[in-house]
Amino acid sequence: MKILVIGSGAREHAIARAFKRSPQNPNLFCFASSNNPGIKELSSDYIVGSMTDTKAILDFAKKNIIDFVFIGPEAPLSVGVADVLWKNNIPCIGPKQSLAQLETSKSFTRDLTTKYNIPGSPKYKNFSSLTGVKEFLDELGELYVIKADGLMGGKGVKVAGDHLHSHEEALTYCQELLDAKSNFVIEEKLIGQEFSLMSFCDGTHLAHMPAVQDHKRAYDNDEGPNTGGMGTYSDADHKLPFLTENDIKQAQGINQNTCDALRTEFGEGYIGILYGGFMVTKDGVKLIEYNARLGDPEAMNVLSILESDFVELCQAIINGNLNQDHAKFSNQATVCKYAVPEGYPNNPVKNQKIDISEVINKNQLYFASVDEREGGLYEMGSRAIAVVGIGNTIFEAEQIAESEISKIKGPLFHRKDIGTTELIQKRINIMNNLR
Ligand code: AMP
Ligand code: GLY
Repeated sequence: MKILVIGSGAREHAIARAFKRSPQNPNLFCFASSNNPGIKELSSDYIVGSMTDTKAILDFAKKNIIDFVFIGPEAPLSVGVADVLWKNNIPCIGPKQSLAQLETSKSFTRDLTTKYNIPGSPKYKNFSSLTGVKEFLDELGELYVIKADGLMGGKGVKVAGDHLHSHEEALTYCQELLDAKSNFVIEEKLIGQEFSLMSFCDGTHLAHMPAVQDHKRAYDNDEGPNTGGMGTYSDADHKLPFLTENDIKQAQGINQNTCDALRTEFGEGYIGILYGGFMVTKDGVKLIEYNARLGDPEAMNVLSILESDFVELCQAIINGNLNQDHAKFSNQATVCKYAVPEGYPNNPVKNQKIDISEVINKNQLYFASVDEREGGLYEMGSRAIAVVGIGNTIFEAEQIAESEISKIKGPLFHRKDIGTTELIQKRINIMNNLR
């Protein structure tokens, strides 16, 4: 069995490890965007190239007679790498370009869920000029969000109260987007708690993963600039402490409805991961956005406790006979924390040596933006290493993650509050006050 993983962050390190745990003992190949010593060690062949170089990816897959491909990041999905692989009879986990619009176009997703009456949509409108913007902002009052309609690496979204403080500022931002030739969506600002619910999808059937909560802000207490995600946790019962059974059912239902809508819309199924970004509000679960891939860091939480054979799970996705039994997760809690360079995300230090020798369980370290040189590890400027703690409770998992991450030496920092009882109680209180 030969499997090609595309991508080379901590998410792909977790994907590679999950494949390597399979009793089928596959040979792994990696088409990477940079050198990742963790993935390299697990791979039979490893090359670095552009994530959007479809031809190079296809050539590498053909050369190695790959059985199937797993696409990690969104960039290859956005340029149709999946289309080209399938056309060459190479099965691929990750949707084709048109179906990946679920992530690459905010307006596509809002229009789709509206057309198919999928619950959980906030009020929204699409714009390609300033016409009607003022009126719609007046209708929404202080509760609005403006989103550039394209892949912006998380930087195209501005939220009233956080980034925009008046309708004037909002209009200025809309004009900036138009100047940059970007259409945009304005939507109602949702109030509540965010969570991620990801599902494996074979085009028709879903197998759901445990719910996870990410932390986007750089510093403790959700302060500081937005990042790719500083850390995440999941609970032993696969819910989250501020969610009810019914909240989870609603989110899973929205993922199933979206899978069905995509099949109807395109006449072919969505094959890959449906990653719903949800907000639980006083009026139930609402959809913030979709991603067409595993979350980073969410992948480290869920894949660390995946009990099933990941190769078999992917084969079921490809064969179209997926069911929940293919994706069994242990009843343990997880906490993942990222060690990031000092100054991250705006002015990160780079090319600095870091030392992981004191970390006890290196199997729970996931390498991201680090390189190996002259026998040492160097941080390269983005999120460097993720550490996962696994325990019977979130509290236990947090203690392990915190103790291990504090053993990584170098000019790095991490969020000490992710997964702590104090922060989680705060989340619970917010939801209790809202409901
Ligand atoms: P997105 O790229 O759509 O996930 O947006 C990035 C972040 O903006 C989300 O993780 C939320 O924190 C916030 N956000 C996006 N849409 C909304 C919304 N309708 N209401 C409140 N916050 C939102
Ligand atoms: N955890 C955020 C993301 O993967 O987009």
